[in-house]
Amino acid sequence: MEYRPGKALLTAEEIAKRVQELAGVISREYQGRDLLLVCILKGAAVFWADLSRQISIPHESDFVALSSYGNATESSREIKFEYDLSTNITGRDVLIIEDIVDTGHTIKCLKEALEARGPKSLKICALLDKAERREAKVTLDYIGFIIPNEFVVGYGLDFAQKYRHLPYIAVLVSP
Ligand code: IMP
Ligand code: MG
Repeated sequence: MEYRPGKALLTAEEIAKRVQELAGVISREYQGRDLLLVCILKGAAVFWADLSRQISIPHESDFVALSSYGNATESSREIKFEYDLSTNITGRDVLIIEDIVDTGHTIKCLKEALEARGPKSLKICALLDKAERREAKVTLDYIGFIIPNEFVVGYGLDFAQKYRHLPYIAVLVSP
């Protein structure tokens, strides 16, 4: 059975409009503060690149890459840093940028790991929230879209490393 992207769930235009709105809110709320965006590779890279360029206040960015143990469509409860921050976040206003929160275990583990480093503040901005799948108790501070329980690809999100380049977000379907 071969999976492929089906109809667009969110068009490039809808995503761009929402990213601009989020950037506006973040620019206002972090005005005069020491904002550091932490982009979770690889999935959030496209979202981060668009969001960062729409944020109108000075800010810095850094990256983490995480691996979880599980197969392509299932999530596990353990994360490992494949690549860690090169920035000391102690005393800084840190905003985690994530593509999608599903069960919430990944983002919860990351938040706890970064919290231990003593940031001044630590919040989460997720483009997509698959809210009905949540298992871990974690607060998402900024959310792009709440989506139904479907596996989605595009705009940075992959299935077995494919489809990240699509400019829109589509549900993965089997023919
Ligand atoms: P969680 O730990 O269950 O919240 O899983 C979050 C991670 O699973 C995300 O960062 C994605 O890498 C991946 N993921 C969850 N749902 C999807 C999806 O629908 N499409 C692509 N990746 C997904
Ligand atoms: Mg991810």
